[in-house]
Amino acid sequence: MSVQSCNSPGNTSITSPDGQLKLDFFLKKGEPFYALSRGGEEIILPSSMGFEFKNMPPMKDNFKIVKATKDSVNITWEQPWGQFKKVRDNHKELSVTLQEKSGDKRILHIIFRVFDDGLGFRYEFPEQPNADSLVIINELTQFTFTREQKVWWIPVHSENSYYESLFRLTKMGETDTINTPATFEMNDGSFLAIHEAALTDYASMTLLLTDSNQYESDLVPWSNGVKVYGRVPFQTPWRTILVGDTPGDLAMSNLTLNLNEPCVLDDISWIEPTKYIGIWWAMHLDEYTWGQGPKHGATTQNAKRYIDFAAENGFGGVLIEGWNLGWDGNWAKDGSDFNFTTSYPDFDLEEVCRYGAKKNVRIIGHHETAGAVFNYEKQLEDAFALYHRYGVNSVKTGYVNKYLDGKEWHDGQFGVRHYRNVVETAARYKIMIDNHEPVKGTGLERTYPNLMAQEGGRGQEYNAWSADGGNPPSHTTIIPFTRMLAGPFDFTPGIFNFDYHTAAGAKVQTTLAKQLALYVIIFSPLQMAADIPWNYENVPAFQFVKDVPCNWSESKVLNGIIGEFVTIVRKDYNSEEWYLGTITNEKKRNISVDLSFLEEGITYLAQIYEDGVKANYKDNPTDIHIIEKKVTKDSGLSFKLAPGGGAAVRFVPIVR
Ligand code: NOJ
Repeated sequence: MSVQSCNSPGNTSITSPDGQLKLDFFLKKGEPFYALSRGGEEIILPSSMGFEFKNMPPMKDNFKIVKATKDSVNITWEQPWGQFKKVRDNHKELSVTLQEKSGDKRILHIIFRVFDDGLGFRYEFPEQPNADSLVIINELTQFTFTREQKVWWIPVHSENSYYESLFRLTKMGETDTINTPATFEMNDGSFLAIHEAALTDYASMTLLLTDSNQYESDLVPWSNGVKVYGRVPFQTPWRTILVGDTPGDLAMSNLTLNLNEPCVLDDISWIEPTKYIGIWWAMHLDEYTWGQGPKHGATTQNAKRYIDFAAENGFGGVLIEGWNLGWDGNWAKDGSDFNFTTSYPDFDLEEVCRYGAKKNVRIIGHHETAGAVFNYEKQLEDAFALYHRYGVNSVKTGYVNKYLDGKEWHDGQFGVRHYRNVVETAARYKIMIDNHEPVKGTGLERTYPNLMAQEGGRGQEYNAWSADGGNPPSHTTIIPFTRMLAGPFDFTPGIFNFDYHTAAGAKVQTTLAKQLALYVIIFSPLQMAADIPWNYENVPAFQFVKDVPCNWSESKVLNGIIGEFVTIVRKDYNSEEWYLGTITNEKKRNISVDLSFLEEGITYLAQIYEDGVKANYKDNPTDIHIIEKKVTKDSGLSFKLAPGGGAAVRFVPIVR
């Protein structure tokens, strides 16, 4: 369908700044369609757009284009933390105003932004008399491929409500409703991902298979079946389509961040990326309990031991879970007993925080709600005020339950509003958030940089208790190209002791060197050393965990095949040091990289942590080889990765 044949005042196509991507918008018998091509080849065929409502007729045809304007932006902005310090926002914009030809003559705007690495578009309902309140029961956005493609995906709600599934690769026709980000291996060898940006007051978009080459937006409903409530003026999140020649192109895209609003916080001086340890893994291994009893982990005395360890080893934070009333009994079933301002008798919050402050270590607070949002929101101000009073400046939140308040999905509009409320309230108390069991990330950390990290994926904890044995070695070679497109992941790397036994029999399925590499592979500005601290004592490899930063000025994917291997390098945000992580799935393999990312004219000391010759994730994970080598940007490095293995390198500039 060409634009010329449409009912259109002028040209409603735009291309990306490099001219490679082309977006066409047009009406066909009054129905809106968009299409996307890359290098002259169609990648998304004409796909229709529109809405169905509970309180008024649908808006999906009968339109005319009353206005189409174009704009372009080319700016660079800076992040307080991230995978990149500087982010370039270079895009072309097309804004179309549609009006119904008859009836209520309602107006709908659609805004498209085309970047070199993808497309974003959103709907806007302007202020108007005949559509002032919206009760959306269906968004009709289609994504129509030229043919059936292969897709990496996780299901919606069937396995759990917060994205903790293993990604799988199938043909589109073998999926049903899938979550975003969904990453497509295209038949021409390129890569594409569908996701969304700026989900602030709307339902999460999932993708319903409507044909073997087509998905349609399927919004997560409220418990009453409605998808979204809104009042005009009202904007939807951006629907995004990332494209790249390699999976690494998707992983390094800043399109999602660029489509979010700039930071709204006046003062962000208190926001600090931090590495932390915690009274945590021992609970997952069943050595401590969250609730009261002889194995209670969060005691004043124990917290002080953890603080001592953090201070001695340069960690800024100690997470303390299980300090407050509400954990006794089956807390995960019903969180309405959680009290966020009252400690257990054996835990003195004020004393612990005072002790930490003396040693320059902050407590990372914890609010597990078990999904009882009503109970939490009632206490929210007091809960943050209490932590703020004692100098706590980050809080991990949690929502372990199939539903919120017994009936709403985590990723419906109810959940989206709640999570944003928590981030905004926390910001007023100068508190950073690490949100577990979240709604997926859509780049809100640009607007609220106190939203540091989220879970929203299968983290390390599955290696403690998962009935399926834990995360298979391929898992972490997939998530850089799937889950990570949604933003920072509090995966919690750094398990050093592989010799534990839990009832479920789950295991960490990596080598020790791979645990180190995960600090570079998986970005999180709150990054944990997850093991029980004493397991790090006298282990030379711990030096890497102490050295590695958790905030970066530059990042690059050097190579990678989804599900097989990946190598990422990153430059420290605050120094000239570079770091490299490379990991493999269950297969051993040789990886060679050139170091051309290093600075010209500088010699670096490369501190290399690699699998020993006998290392194997199954029965010899701790065999590790640590060496130092002088390198420059003209050098190369090769690694022999063990099955389930990896390597981690710190590059320290030594001679200029
Ligand atoms: C699940 C979280 O992911 C985990 O980190 C936490 O320890 C438990 N919930 C308890 O809140």
